[in-house]
Amino acid sequence: MQTRLRLLGWMARRFGGSKPRAMNLEGTLAMLPDSSLFPLYRDGLDPVPQLTEKPPVSRLPLPLGIRAWLVTGHEQVRAVLGDGGAFSNDFGKFAAKVGLTAGEQPGGLGMTDPPMHTRLRRMVMPEFTMHRLARLRPRIEAIVDDRLDAMAATGGPVDLWQEFALPVPALTICELLGVPYEDRDLVQKFSAARFDLGDGAYAPLDAINESRAYLRDLVADQRRRPGDGLIGSLIAAHGDELSDQELAGLADGVLTGGLETSASMLALGALVLMTQPGLAAPLRAGEPADALVEELLRYLTVVQVGFPRFAVRDLELDGASIKEGDIVMCSLIGADRDGVLGPGMDVIDAGRATSRSHLAFGHGLHRCVGAELARMELRIAYPALVRRFPEMRPALDPASLPMRRASIVFGLEALPVALVGPATH
Ligand code: HEM
Repeated sequence: MQTRLRLLGWMARRFGGSKPRAMNLEGTLAMLPDSSLFPLYRDGLDPVPQLTEKPPVSRLPLPLGIRAWLVTGHEQVRAVLGDGGAFSNDFGKFAAKVGLTAGEQPGGLGMTDPPMHTRLRRMVMPEFTMHRLARLRPRIEAIVDDRLDAMAATGGPVDLWQEFALPVPALTICELLGVPYEDRDLVQKFSAARFDLGDGAYAPLDAINESRAYLRDLVADQRRRPGDGLIGSLIAAHGDELSDQELAGLADGVLTGGLETSASMLALGALVLMTQPGLAAPLRAGEPADALVEELLRYLTVVQVGFPRFAVRDLELDGASIKEGDIVMCSLIGADRDGVLGPGMDVIDAGRATSRSHLAFGHGLHRCVGAELARMELRIAYPALVRRFPEMRPALDPASLPMRRASIVFGLEALPVALVGPATH
């Protein structure tokens, strides 16, 4: 039971923004047997056969007799994510059932149902419209150029994860939230520390706590002097309805939801562009990156599973009899590699007609609020990277690069690259 609570709690924190718990993800997932974890495994960049060979809806074995289902078929995943009436995200509804106290309910966007979800989402959405996001474009371009300059100044080799993939989304989210310039080094520091296991498994947890404490201070500060980002806008429009704690929670949900996901897409996408040079050539020639970005989102689908859903009543899904209260896990990577989308889904084809039907940002009520921002980052960053360093290549055999194992957000732990080709260096 504790295992399930910790796993669900972590997922809630990732997008919802709530108080810290006693265990980090590595500790939590290490407690689950392999037979439960295979939806989070990859074979290189591909899902493991154990996942792709499953029928579209199957039982997911979890310890302690917890009833859970794994949905891997594209149509079936779309059906679950799109049916907020039959599947609930509200962990609170199940709190008593699983022995949680009210104070432990994670809350936030990702693990709430309407009307609470509708209320919170309506508050943050205005900052994510194309009109509001347009103000970020020149800032993202400047952030990307700065990072490329910093990489070039080293002469290489560099760790692309630390020097590019992580700081670009961290600084973009600073812009979005309205973090003052003088604090950005600090935000970058704890953003990097979230992924740094070098100081022991608890270092990332400390960094998460540090970032929450910082955001609470920032909210209190902006109550007095509202800034021009998401936090300032929320205070201006809803300052009376939201406590500092709720505001900091929303900001933290945006930071956690937008950081690891975009960073992983940047690093893995860069790896693909280095190892499949035919994909980078059109970007270097100035062709728009939009179609390739969609196909990379589909192919990599870094958020491997969506938030857990709970069946609100007994129902049938693709012949499976799901009972009220059962957990339903949707494999987004399974759905995005499903052959119903066309042939050869394990190959990157930017001309594929079905690329945009991917579920990498989810679907339905909880579809990613940051999708357009993430697209903007990727569309700016990939072309800039391959143009600045046309000869860039992995400094290690790609097969031996350190990948995160059994992680809900799939990704690399480091990406050492040489910036110039062997012939010129
Ligand atoms: C490539 C980058 C990204 C990917 C692949 C991604 C993926 C996802 C997915 C799959 C979901 C829905 C999960 C579900 O329904 O079970 C989601 C929700 C969410 N994402 Fe993203 N995301 C990305 C970037 C961002 C960014 C940049 C932000 C904010 C700055 C963000 C904030 C959120 C939030 C707050 C939610 C919860 C929405 C809700 O429950 O209504 N994400 N994301």
